[in-house]
Amino acid sequence: MARTGFVAGNWKMHGNLVQNQELLDAIVLGIPSLQNASCAVCVPYPYLAQAQSVLKGTHVAWGGQDVSQYHQGAYTGEVSAGMLADFGCCYVIVGHSERRTLYGEDNQVVAEKFRSAQEQSLIPILCVGETLAQREANDTEQVIAMQLDAVIGLVGADAIKHSVIAYEPVWAIGTGKTATPQQAQDVHAFVRSRIAAHNSEIAADVQIVYGGSVKANNAPELFAMPDIDGGLIGGASLVAAEFISICFAAQS
Ligand code: PGA
Repeated sequence: MARTGFVAGNWKMHGNLVQNQELLDAIVLGIPSLQNASCAVCVPYPYLAQAQSVLKGTHVAWGGQDVSQYHQGAYTGEVSAGMLADFGCCYVIVGHSERRTLYGEDNQVVAEKFRSAQEQSLIPILCVGETLAQREANDTEQVIAMQLDAVIGLVGADAIKHSVIAYEPVWAIGTGKTATPQQAQDVHAFVRSRIAAHNSEIAADVQIVYGGSVKANNAPELFAMPDIDGGLIGGASLVAAEFISICFAAQS
């Protein structure tokens, strides 16, 4: 089965009701359909209802940027996978490097979040990636292997089938410094081979997207690489024209 493309916008902590409306309207208008590709926006929690009301019935899906590993209970400030599902989310980002570094999420917590997302039939977008120091120490593959193995260890390799993997080198996020297509391809191929060690069919089918300073002008060369199936887009997802062209670049 040939893989289709996928692009998700990660709005992070940006936006307000008025700006979101403009951005969502422009995206819907700009993406009447996509060929062999799909797209989504991951918005801050308070705007899920707005995303749902604007995007329902369009070609643009929506999701959250994080999720609790717990179902319910005394966890002040947390949002469960069931709550995201209540607002029609298809996707949720788990293990973004900002969550890992700023909020201390380790591989185990990320794996539990992945599991709780899938229990509510959400598709987790699992972020993996190395820091600059780790890359310079030649530890990239080891770091990514540990991030992947924690998830596979908890949920099993078969669960990877209903997920998207996002390779996001930490040094490329929000820095304007993109991995070269070859650097990204090498890690994507490694991720695929790591999954293939468990199940080659799932490895061949799973979408692996790249994130880290993807823009309209560098998306085509990145997405042309054999193991890069699309992107997870931060800054450029806040600019309708940029995001729309990136989505089109993921078509095949
Ligand atoms: P960026 O962010 O596109 O602004 O580098 C990507 C991400 O953090 O998902």
